[in-house]
Amino acid sequence: VIEQTLRPKTLAQYIGQTAVKNQLDIYITAAKKREESLDHVLLYGPPGLGKTTLALVIANELGVNIRTTSGPAIERPGDLVALLNELQPGDVLFIDEIHRLPKIVEEMLYSAMEDFYIDIVVGEGPTAHPVHFPLPPFTLIGATTRAGVLSAPLRDRFGISAHMAYYTDEELTQIVFRSADVFDLTLEDQGAHEIARRSRGTPRIANRLLKRVRDFADVADAQTVSLDIVQHALTQLQVDARGLDQIDRKLLALMIRDYNGGPVGLNTIAANIGEERATIEEMYEPYLLQIGFLKRTPRGRMATQAAYEHLGLPYNN
Ligand code: ADE
Repeated sequence: VIEQTLRPKTLAQYIGQTAVKNQLDIYITAAKKREESLDHVLLYGPPGLGKTTLALVIANELGVNIRTTSGPAIERPGDLVALLNELQPGDVLFIDEIHRLPKIVEEMLYSAMEDFYIDIVVGEGPTAHPVHFPLPPFTLIGATTRAGVLSAPLRDRFGISAHMAYYTDEELTQIVFRSADVFDLTLEDQGAHEIARRSRGTPRIANRLLKRVRDFADVADAQTVSLDIVQHALTQLQVDARGLDQIDRKLLALMIRDYNGGPVGLNTIAANIGEERATIEEMYEPYLLQIGFLKRTPRGRMATQAAYEHLGLPYNN
């Protein structure tokens, strides 16, 4: 319930992603003016940057219904048919993790997206026959952490493609203040900035840290959340000054201590720290790359001098 109220409802309330918002504002306004469905939208970028929130905002701005699902949830063609069957003209179908759609389902989407119909086979054996099934015009919004792994035919059917970027500390500070407001929490400026700085450019992390900080403040009967309380809470959570958590540090320490800073292959890292390869690649590496703690080379990942310094380890490569 709280998650819902934390989510902005309109583009104007949505903080950050200025470039994405500006282009969407034009396309949404134009589609409404022509009384057409909005062209299909692909949102890609690291997790926690507000792709689902933005999909909800787009549907709200269009004044249409939204159906939400995810790639792995659509197992069979029949599941997709059921979803498409419920759409009213202009509605939004949101598919999170669209890179994980089964191939056979993905192929059905091609005609649905391009010409608003699907061909399904009804019956079995000698009585099997194709049925042409027209659909109302609709907008598919796909979200993925990995645009690179989408097949070209699927990628090419999105008329609008938007890259979600990490948020600046200033934008995250605004989000933290907005969420604190929803929680009826009074935050000192410095406390809000500290949460923002340690949130890895990611609103989902900022909101999660804020909730934990609120727990510490409530237990301490603090009326106002000070920088002190924030620092205490984040230390307890083992979130360091750059926002790195235990897994980030474990990953970097492994590369530095056991592999002399690399290059190390992703599979080796995954096996050694006990996390899935995809988790490392999609959730941990993007931010470490962004802040320059990690480099990708053809021979594997390398820890940079900045990573050594952050962990307080001597750099002599
Ligand atoms: N909460 C999470 N992400 C947000 C955003 N981008 N703008 C406003 N509130 C948010």
